[in-house]
Amino acid sequence: MNNFKEQINLENLPSHVAIIMDGNGRWAKKQGKLRLFGHNNGVSSVRAVTEASAELGLKYLTLYAFSTENWNRPQDEVNGLMKLLIQTIEAETPTLNKNNVRLLSIGDSSRMPEDVNKRLQACIKTTENNTGLTLILALSYSSRWEITKATQDIANDIAQGIIKKEEITEELISNYMCTKNIPDPELLIRTSGEYRISNFLLWQIAYSELYFTDVLWPDFQKEDLYKAIVNYQSRERRFGKTSEQINK
Ligand code: IPE
Ligand code: IPE
Ligand code: MG
Repeated sequence: MNNFKEQINLENLPSHVAIIMDGNGRWAKKQGKLRLFGHNNGVSSVRAVTEASAELGLKYLTLYAFSTENWNRPQDEVNGLMKLLIQTIEAETPTLNKNNVRLLSIGDSSRMPEDVNKRLQACIKTTENNTGLTLILALSYSSRWEITKATQDIANDIAQGIIKKEEITEELISNYMCTKNIPDPELLIRTSGEYRISNFLLWQIAYSELYFTDVLWPDFQKEDLYKAIVNYQSRERRFGKTSEQINK
């Protein structure tokens, strides 16, 4: 494998990388195993990518771990994923602290089991003063849920006189999203060869660079992240301008 890490320009790192971690089920099936075996093995990729991001000096890493739509999966799989979440958060909290990583979560926590919320909140509290990477877990998250909630919250705040309707700007809307105070991702990665967004960060990825790879999530290693970053750095981000304007 090429050494992609050496090719990374540390002056031009994305500050925020978001990942749609997909392909655990297919990874397991290929080996004749149950889907949960794939989810269990996906944890080591989460660990690798978090560590690589912290080492590189990225500021934010958002991982899509469970979508609103994933509640419609077979109950056994949902239960297994919730159990895995609790175990992983508990087991990884000391490592997050050691690596100066701060944990946050986004999503509809009202649908999450109480024991997951408790464990999650405990880890968020324990790591709140860490100043390195911020790791954001998207749990019971979907973009349409988020945008709907933001719209309801804005309408409520107008009705209560907290804000005026004339004050609605793009910036204000951003501040009603779960990602308030978090910069938009410059780079969005999706694994497993699927070319779709699956209801993830629709507002925030308006100008993100999209990177798709066939690698299934449990096979995704540090080098795969470095490769995506090198690819990102080869692109010209024009934001609607011309190439000449960008390079003058
Ligand atoms: C991603 O892997 C993990 C979650 C969505 C929770 P999948 O479970 O979607 O794996 P595939 O896409 O079926 O292979
Ligand atoms: C997207 O993966 C959600 C997560 C990675 C958590 P899915 O496997 O649920 O997405 P679809 O159903 O293939 O679009
Ligand atoms: Mg999938």
